[in-house]
Amino acid sequence: METVFVLNGPNLNLLGTREPEIYGSDTLDDIAVMLDERAAALGLAIDMRQTNHEGVLVDWLHEARETGVKAVLLNAGAYTHTSIALLDAIKAIGVPVIEVHLSNPQEREEFRHISYVGMAAADCVQGLGPRSYIVALERAAAL
Ligand code: DQA
Repeated sequence: METVFVLNGPNLNLLGTREPEIYGSDTLDDIAVMLDERAAALGLAIDMRQTNHEGVLVDWLHEARETGVKAVLLNAGAYTHTSIALLDAIKAIGVPVIEVHLSNPQEREEFRHISYVGMAAADCVQGLGPRSYIVALERAAAL
């Protein structure tokens, strides 16, 4: 069975209580349950992780290449808007990365409009709340 990495960056461990008016009330564990259900129906396995550390995300992207995963769903949180290291890692690994956001950064503060992740990602799903992850998984399945 093919695996899809679902990598989550800083502050996403606080989903459920973090600015619920923006990010909703589902926790990351709730989203993992939804993704597992959809993945099972699509015949995929999910490996979902969260870290607050930029370098750990880089290491996990390298691991995606080493283990030959089908695709990576990446919600890099605020590192989306700052991290040239993530941009370089996505370019380096040769694994399709789909950028994911719960909110729509394009409709928020100007500093969120730049996405280094988006400069190398194969696709982007944003602004749908937890459904962003599900739609991104469906797109990954179709790759
Ligand atoms: C986010 C959007 C980012 O701008 C923000 O820094 C986050 C969450 C989202 O899922 O909407 O941490 O990636």
